[in-house]
Amino acid sequence: MVVLYACAFSPGKVILLGEHFVVHGACALVAAIEQGSTTKSSLSDVDEIVSENLNLRWRQGDPVPKALLPYKKALERIRSEFPVSKKIRSSISTTLPLSAGLGSSSSTSVSYVASVLKLLDSDADSGRIFDIAMESERVTHGNPSGVDVFVGVEGGVHLYKRDGSKKKVNLLAPVKIIVVNTGIRRSTSYLVSKFASYRNIFPSYFDGVVKASSHIAVLGSDYLSKGMLNEFGLLLNYQHAILSFFGVSCKPLDNLVNLSIEGGALGAKLTGAGGGGCVIVLPDQSSFGNVIRKLEAFDVFVTTIPSGGLKTWTE
Ligand code: MEV
Repeated sequence: MVVLYACAFSPGKVILLGEHFVVHGACALVAAIEQGSTTKSSLSDVDEIVSENLNLRWRQGDPVPKALLPYKKALERIRSEFPVSKKIRSSISTTLPLSAGLGSSSSTSVSYVASVLKLLDSDADSGRIFDIAMESERVTHGNPSGVDVFVGVEGGVHLYKRDGSKKKVNLLAPVKIIVVNTGIRRSTSYLVSKFASYRNIFPSYFDGVVKASSHIAVLGSDYLSKGMLNEFGLLLNYQHAILSFFGVSCKPLDNLVNLSIEGGALGAKLTGAGGGGCVIVLPDQSSFGNVIRKLEAFDVFVTTIPSGGLKTWTE
């Protein structure tokens, strides 16, 4: 078979518990979702990177549009590690809403890196793909914990710490999660700095809450793995309140959380950096229809966890 395209799919993610705190060393509980990003790469006369969603194109020799810099950075790193003279054209697309807390930047980066490495027939393992995609993420977010990139490679549900410790969480049964988008796009790096500013305002309290957040994530992983969804829902509500205290919620997010709880959800919280973006909602079977009706005026989709990780193939 003649290989024309080397393709890669990487999932988006929802942070179930521990966003922001994970940047400061706490454990986060993260899950891959079914929606994600695909890159198709082929040999070409010049290097070229196309973002279908942003309608942007960079061709070798042209100035690089800012939004494509993360991929250009990854391409430079790949070229320095795998010296090849071949020119590569890649086309990146995603089914994730952009800048909404669902890992669109990490999943596009992971799929881009994996697709180019597949085209080059490299033997790069998942650790190498993670390292190179992290370089892209640093261009986008400055100080990423790596949680989004990690789950974009591995899939599944994991406890994750930026010091390198990770633990896979196995669920008794798949869990349905409702994702609601405020439609407000926001900057992760701005919100990460805003949250971090509290470290200077209340240094000792901040460190205590970071430690407590780790406990909450571990406790949540235990509840989730055992199917104790009532208890898990309470932790989602608790974490939303704490994240609001640290200034990363907003009225539209609080409104979606309140509507979900009124509809009978077991819990709801912002997910990712906050400031806009999405809320995740945990319904139980009996409240599912009612919660969906409460949220029908908004941009809603349902996803199931656990979902798979990075996949590559040729066409
Ligand atoms: C963004 O999806 C999650 C944050 O915790 C930032 C990070 O972990 O890099 C807000």
